[in-house]
Amino acid sequence: MVEFLTWVEDSALGEMMRGLGVWSYGLFNLAHILGIATLFGSMLIFDLRLLGLWRRIPLRSVAAPTLPLAVAGFVLAAGSGTCMIATNAIDYSDNPFLLIKFPAIALGVLNAIVVAKLPAWQAVTATDAPAQREPRALAISGGLSLAFWLTAVASGRMIGYW
Ligand code: HEM
Repeated sequence: MVEFLTWVEDSALGEMMRGLGVWSYGLFNLAHILGIATLFGSMLIFDLRLLGLWRRIPLRSVAAPTLPLAVAGFVLAAGSGTCMIATNAIDYSDNPFLLIKFPAIALGVLNAIVVAKLPAWQAVTATDAPAQREPRALAISGGLSLAFWLTAVASGRMIGYW
């Protein structure tokens, strides 16, 4: 872990970030927060729909705006976060919240990939008819997704307090 973080800090990205000037870290942090807000806000609506809220709105009508926004937010958060961590990566070497945050992000992404492959997802999104009840597999995935993203946000916020 320390070797990897040393490599990240010594990288060309790390050097570039440290040379950018006094406002740069704050601006990347702002981009990070905007990315997180976009990702988490979109996933909150989508996951609550999977859990059975707003059943009269077809699932694919909820997915159409929320999923592309979630992907855009993720790309912004991951890009800005990589730049931020490269600035002073070694400082995070004994930070336990890093070891909670990154597995939670990986599980959140993995869960989204699994949901898209579920037969229940394919069946429900093939129609605009309102569902009486969503398949249990989709509700479970929605609950898991909320737990993973909440853990990522909470542990990300805690990193700075260690
Ligand atoms: C490759 C992906 C990511 C990297 C490398 C990364 C890295 C970082 C770094 C270095 C910080 C600053 C920690 C500090 O010293 O205070 C941070 C803050 C934070 N990150 Fe990330 N992050 C990534 C993705 C995400 C994602 C996907 C989320 C949420 C779903 C997230 C949530 C947070 C939160 C809530 C903060 C605290 C922001 C603040 O209060 O200023 N991060 N991240």
